[in-house]
Amino acid sequence: MSTAETMSRGGIPQKSIASRIESKTAKIGIIGLGYVGLPLAVEYARQGFQTVGYDVSAERVLRLNAGKNYIDDVPEEHFKEVHQSGLFSAQDDYEGAGDIDVFYICVPTPVTEHKDPDTTYIRSAAESIAAHIREGQLVILKSTTYPDTTEGIVQPIIEAAARKKGLVLGKDWFLAFSPERIDPGNKQFTTANTPVVVGGVTPACTDVACLAVEQVVSIVHRVSSPKVAEMEKLLENIFRSVNIALVNELARLCDRMGGISMWEVVEAAATKPFGFMPFYPGPGLGGHCIPIDPYYLSWLARRYDFETSFITLSARTNEEMPFYVVDAVVRAVASQGVKVSNAKVLVLGVAFKRDVDDTRHSPAEKILSLMTEAGFENLTYSDPHVASFTFGTRTGEVTLEGVELSSAVVAAADVVVLLTDHSAFPYSMIADKARLIVDTRNAFGGVPHDREKIMLLGGGDF
Ligand SMILES: NC(=O)c1ccc[n+]([C@@H]2O[C@H](COP(=O)([O-])OP(=O)(O)OC[C@H]3O[C@@H](n4cnc5c(N)ncnc54)[C@H](O)[C@@H]3O)[C@@H](O)[C@H]2O)c1
Repeated sequence: MSTAETMSRGGIPQKSIASRIESKTAKIGIIGLGYVGLPLAVEYARQGFQTVGYDVSAERVLRLNAGKNYIDDVPEEHFKEVHQSGLFSAQDDYEGAGDIDVFYICVPTPVTEHKDPDTTYIRSAAESIAAHIREGQLVILKSTTYPDTTEGIVQPIIEAAARKKGLVLGKDWFLAFSPERIDPGNKQFTTANTPVVVGGVTPACTDVACLAVEQVVSIVHRVSSPKVAEMEKLLENIFRSVNIALVNELARLCDRMGGISMWEVVEAAATKPFGFMPFYPGPGLGGHCIPIDPYYLSWLARRYDFETSFITLSARTNEEMPFYVVDAVVRAVASQGVKVSNAKVLVLGVAFKRDVDDTRHSPAEKILSLMTEAGFENLTYSDPHVASFTFGTRTGEVTLEGVELSSAVVAAADVVVLLTDHSAFPYSMIADKARLIVDTRNAFGGVPHDREKIMLLGGGDF
């Protein structure tokens, strides 16, 4: 889209901000330097924009300014490039934030103990922007949240400060929602080549936000409002949660029936070239998104006396999986003639998914917690991406240090429990040396193994 089009679509002249973005003289401010914010900041800096990252963690800021990257998805050479060029720097305060032209909010959106949305981080970020709002600024909220957060929370906070300066939204300053789609560990789809959705509060807001996003993303899809963009993001996550729950339920049916592997069933169904998309069973949901985000919508729906049955049902089904896995481990141990309290159990993988170091809400947290409460006293784990791992139990937190994987470590375990199918694991060696494997990911499907040694979730024998 050209600048001229940008002007005419919104019908309001935003020459200064549009031309600053197009000429790459706009200054970018990214609030929250985690899995979402840091890759985005590095991408803007690589495209030639002066970019400042803001984070409340002084330790993170210190590390970044010392040239140390902590997010696996940011290639070391990219980080070095923007650190050395001076185009990227980090701050734990907002000094000089009045110079920022485009603010992105990439802060956490967790749930409370009662699974209600916790928007305190978004509010705090919006307040920081409000303190520096000036003519010509664009604010884009990226944190996943329920429909109406942009207009119902961020807008009033900034607008209160903007009005005092005589600034009108959609004319003097701009606000949009543009959800994040980053898939940690995915080497094929990154910030630059994953299409992004943008919805502004006014058409002019959408124009300016699209222009800003287009600087780092090749395909931008406009929608008519922030609410549509907010709902669209939740649909993506709920779609995954529901489909994973469906295969998890059918996997348990296969186990009960015996003689049918859900993995083979999915593989066969996936040969249909239309109308089917494969999802796989597993030990439970993990990560910062799928186990959390659907609750944002069910909470909102309750305000409208509306029950989101698919969300509730899929959450319930997926949340039962760790219990199902622990039951299988107890049976596996019993089959070895070992008491639970004496059993040596080696857990492979505690990250929430393959080839990442992120352990937030990983199924391993719940599974190790349940196993500890069930009386397992000899639990060890190995994960090439996670050096130490903390999980809660009823009596307090437990921290385990990961062990280096070797044939001796595998052979010493009464039962090996595979929770995360990292590609670095030596599957042939494990299959060879283990006495019994509880496989929740079909990780051993591709290596020769003794069928009797493996209890496969959804494999008809779990
Ligand atoms: N991680 C993902 O794969 C992913 C994918 C899509 C969407 N999201 C969404 O993006 C948002 C951010 O997720 P994330 O995974 O990057 O979180 P994260 O925890 O990795 O990073 C958030 C960062 O924000 C900082 N922070 C918190 N409050 C702040 C404040 N007031 N000001 C400045 N910094 C602050 C934290 O210190 C942290 O460094 C969430 O809403 C999440 O649901 C995440």
